[in-house]
Amino acid sequence: MGIGLKSNENKVSKKFYIESYGCQMNFADSEVVASIVSKEGYNSTNNLNDADLILLNTCSIREKAELTVRKRLESFNKLKRKNKNLKVGVLGCMAERLKSKFLDEEKIVDLVVGPDAYKDIPNLLEEINEGRNAVNVILSKEETYGDISPVRLSSNGVTAFVSITRGCDNMCTFCVVPFTRGRERSRDPKSILNEIKDLNNSNYKEITLLGQNVDSYLWYGGGLKKDFKNADEFVKKTSVNFSKLLKLVAEAFPKLRIRFSTSNPQDMSLDVIKTMANYDNICNYIHLPVQSGSDSILKAMNRQHTREEYLTLIKNIKDIIPNCGISHDMITGFPNESDMDHKQTLSLMKEVQYDFGYMFKYSERPGTFAAKKFEDNVKESVKKIRLQEIIDLQQTHSHYRTRQYVGKIVEVLIEKESKKSNLHWAGRNEQNTMVVFPKQSHNIGDFVKVKVLECTSATLIGVSQDL
Ligand code: 5AD
Ligand code: SF4
Repeated sequence: MGIGLKSNENKVSKKFYIESYGCQMNFADSEVVASIVSKEGYNSTNNLNDADLILLNTCSIREKAELTVRKRLESFNKLKRKNKNLKVGVLGCMAERLKSKFLDEEKIVDLVVGPDAYKDIPNLLEEINEGRNAVNVILSKEETYGDISPVRLSSNGVTAFVSITRGCDNMCTFCVVPFTRGRERSRDPKSILNEIKDLNNSNYKEITLLGQNVDSYLWYGGGLKKDFKNADEFVKKTSVNFSKLLKLVAEAFPKLRIRFSTSNPQDMSLDVIKTMANYDNICNYIHLPVQSGSDSILKAMNRQHTREEYLTLIKNIKDIIPNCGISHDMITGFPNESDMDHKQTLSLMKEVQYDFGYMFKYSERPGTFAAKKFEDNVKESVKKIRLQEIIDLQQTHSHYRTRQYVGKIVEVLIEKESKKSNLHWAGRNEQNTMVVFPKQSHNIGDFVKVKVLECTSATLIGVSQDL
């Protein structure tokens, strides 16, 4: 108990604990939820044992992600036995996918809230505190949480996420996201700029504009993207697309580093690439998922691009921004993927020589087009071998890329202490590669010119030139 506090004063304020799984979007959403819950009188805690309310912001992207959450929920049984008033809530994509079934399947859960229903949490908390279970999984065509100031959770005070779109209209056949996160909506640029202004005033140095498909950003006063074509000429002229938004942000905040994620090949315009080249404060790094190097698999995945179109885009990026870092997402073992298809994936990787990549075995998701129409017929043992092959190849390419930096000077934004040594700082260069170097007189949040002396496949090791 704090000195000078009466015992009941200590008990009045409740505590919440929140844990996030999956993509950056979920981590950003948890900051919106933290803001909403804080207004209900809950303080945040990092200690599960202190919590009156545990929230898990969940991911459904692969079966494994869901199993991890279920295991985590089981581990709370003990806590619930100790604290009869403890409430457990499930947020995010699993909440949306499983809805009230969650309450039957996992007895420990009191609260189920989908990604568009977080503003209803105050009402839902009232329900559960009166002893009833509560569910809201209504998806919205408008909700962007643009009017909520996120509470920065476990922040380093240097880098932050700012969400600019929600949902996804792409309908890749393997993906559960359109079902769990609903239709694509863009957020008003004014509220985006306001959020960034607050971050800038609080001394943040880098922001990442977030969305499932940022290049498809389009603001024309609200509404779905598909209705834009019927808008009048004035609305069309004054609309803001992604390259305009990038320009607005880059010009308003010349000292901030700007990143964005995720890009989809079919929506990434030359304008965006040129804008990146025109502004020094937009980082030369693009995460550009491809998913497969084979045209027939891309077609079955309902990706809106061919292998050739993707490679043309990569060529344009490299022509306009020669030092651009590029990373990918790849799925191996999609239904009917043959040895030839797999070889096409390897050969695409060899053509691009990505800086890094995120590689996954296909995981069938209930309700998706692929689950309904295709048999998950690539054997697990084959998926495993193929995955290892692409991981090994990526490792070679990553090492090739990091070696190109040795002997050069890169600009690093210091984010944290190196995991391996408390005598070193860690941060990323603009291409998103990790750099570690001796601390000397620098501090977290400093931009430092670092000479790269050596490298592993994932990290550059160097020494500061700014002394
Ligand atoms: N199985 C495996 N990987 C998937 N991803 C999305 N859905 C699936 C699935 N069903 C991967 C894609 C996507 C990344 C976020 O997750 O590569 O780009
Ligand atoms: Fe997981 Fe995708 Fe949902 Fe993000 S959007 S939480 S990665 S399922």
